[in-house]
Amino acid sequence: VSTPAQTETIVLVGLMGAGKTTIGRRVATRLDLPFVDADVEIERAAGCTISEIFTRHGEPAFRDGERRVIKRLLQGPPCVLATGGGAFMDTQTRILVRQHARSVWLRCALPVLARRLSGRQGRPLLAQGDHKTILAALQAVRHPIYAEADIIVDCGDDSVDTSARRVLEALE
Ligand code: S3P
Repeated sequence: VSTPAQTETIVLVGLMGAGKTTIGRRVATRLDLPFVDADVEIERAAGCTISEIFTRHGEPAFRDGERRVIKRLLQGPPCVLATGGGAFMDTQTRILVRQHARSVWLRCALPVLARRLSGRQGRPLLAQGDHKTILAALQAVRHPIYAEADIIVDCGDDSVDTSARRVLEALE
């Protein structure tokens, strides 16, 4: 049974550690679409890492760059697009996602996220203190907005394979 051609971009949203990149890669392979990581594209465009953007220019400058990069990607050919955890919080980005793509929230419980992110570097928002406290605060603000995604997939602590399969089933 062949998978029907996917003509629309799939945008993955959710908190840091939810698996947007790993699950996204798997989904892209299955759909025969290119995989694009918005964070990588932002770093490429800026010529430095996300942490460096935050330290040198501040979060608002990062968010501006993020919005521009995602807009460009959404206007390009279909792909599976993993976005940084804050991207979908931007109203303009959400409007564009609604116009150009289908959005999937990878919902994941806080203890799982905290465990996966423990000891990881390169996420400036987590550099300020205890991961669980920071994630709980982000969750409170972001979950109601992530809930506006077209599709919600509960990832629990499932394998990449299982979560990718759930996403593909939901997209059918
Ligand atoms: C952020 C998440 C990160 C990255 C930046 C800010 C956020 O991406 O965009 O550090 O605001 O949640 P991941 O969700 O891919 O870790």
